[in-house]
Amino acid sequence: QEDDFKRVISHAKEYGYVVQSSEIYDGLSAVYDYAQNGAELKKNIREYWWRAMVQLHENIVGIDAAIFMHPTTWKASGHVDAFNDPLIDNKDSKKRYRADVLIEDYVAKLEAKVEKEVDKAAKRFGDAFDREQFVSTHPRVVKYLEQADTIIKRMARSLEQEDLADVKALIEELEITCPVSGSRNWTDVKQFNLMFGTKLGASADSAMDLYLRPETAQGIFVNFLNVQKSGRMKIPFGIAQVGKAFRNEIVARQFIFRMREFEQMEMQFFIRPGEQKKWYEHWKAARMQWHLSLGLGEENYRFHDHEKLAHYADAAADIEFRFPFGFKELEGIHSRTDFDLANHEKYSGKKLQYFDPELNEHYTPYVVETSIGLDRMFLAVFSHCLQEEDLGDGNTRTVLRLPGVLAPTKAAILPLIKRDGLPELAREILDDLKWDFNVQYDEKDAVGRRYRRQDAAGTPICITVDHQSLEDRTVTLRHRDSMEQERVPIDQLGSLIGREVDM
Ligand code: GAP
Repeated sequence: QEDDFKRVISHAKEYGYVVQSSEIYDGLSAVYDYAQNGAELKKNIREYWWRAMVQLHENIVGIDAAIFMHPTTWKASGHVDAFNDPLIDNKDSKKRYRADVLIEDYVAKLEAKVEKEVDKAAKRFGDAFDREQFVSTHPRVVKYLEQADTIIKRMARSLEQEDLADVKALIEELEITCPVSGSRNWTDVKQFNLMFGTKLGASADSAMDLYLRPETAQGIFVNFLNVQKSGRMKIPFGIAQVGKAFRNEIVARQFIFRMREFEQMEMQFFIRPGEQKKWYEHWKAARMQWHLSLGLGEENYRFHDHEKLAHYADAAADIEFRFPFGFKELEGIHSRTDFDLANHEKYSGKKLQYFDPELNEHYTPYVVETSIGLDRMFLAVFSHCLQEEDLGDGNTRTVLRLPGVLAPTKAAILPLIKRDGLPELAREILDDLKWDFNVQYDEKDAVGRRYRRQDAAGTPICITVDHQSLEDRTVTLRHRDSMEQERVPIDQLGSLIGREVDM
């Protein structure tokens, strides 16, 4: 697993997807840059989300609010007082941990034990193996899962009640039963605020303390009335946004899974009070459907209903994805009640209510939000699609099986050789296709090597121009996934590519 993940990180760098920020200065921890292919993949994920959420919903509109917000925003939202991570230091190793992440690591160890038992049994029983039945009846597995559940529940309860002494006690107990850190000498658990501070204004006296936004959602809440009025929106309706968010994450690890500067794709859905359960279930299902539409495999997703709720929520669930380091949160669906609007009303003194013409009454709308990290989605797609494929003839190939709609380059156009007018015809094809698709010209190396290079970069289609092309204006179209080739007329290329890569 660790090796797989290392391969993901090095492939991302080698093929122009993701690199460490400021690498020539040895990088900045938990900050990353997207290179030429990464920027395209990220843009395509963003557009895939925007289309599903905004374009296809008559009652959802998109905005783009500023990163800087009035500092009172964060008082009202609860982030100044409650947006904390519980930290604990190990006195021996001098390492700092997020207590909840550390506890999750203990639980992951138990889950790894379960997976080991499952693998063993699956091998023994072959086709007759029923995973669900096995994990619900096998005594050792049942015990592990019960232990994991008890640990998570106790952690959630203690964090919610701010019983930090019990969080420490739990870590001390777990370090004995399933060691993760290897040492047992801990400090007390302390809360640490995750917001980055900065200043607005030049002079020392008049400068205003600001925060970099830790979530994009508040830009939507403060604009609720502007959008509702100018768009004449009727409840239920949604406001969507994609933008940067910043958190001073202490456990900076797992590549772009947990970053200090990242992008969120959020949607706040404003509803009648009392209807939150229905809409919460609706958006849970709708968001799962969106994920499944990309075809990365149903077995790689699961819901995780929260016991420990954020300061603003009355119900919350994650959509988890099977990352190379196990199932982890990819997206959150939160029922936020009227927490945010009511608090902004209180702190700003401005009425943030909606007049419901059907009910003939004013009320503060409730909100169900969907919130997904763009970078985390990138990691899910990229890590899943990177595969080492056995070709059966003693050879393997590295192939990045990105869904066509997300692939940075849709087709590569390759003249078989660099003379006889083939490059000119290849460029003619490129100049025609580039108006509709992101396409690339590649003439270096033997064509087999170029295919492999495009496979590894994730390009779904290669178009090879040869001598026959000059005579009958047909080319070879090669598919990345099946490696099948077909002869097609040049004038059909646009529609053939479109069929494979359009949304
Ligand atoms: N407005 C609600 C909110 O921000 P969250 O669960 O804190 O909720 C939502 O974050 C999503 O944002 C997460 O599911 C994750 O995909 C992404 N995210 C959060 N922190 C992140 C980080 N440090 N790096 C990358 N993505 C992050």
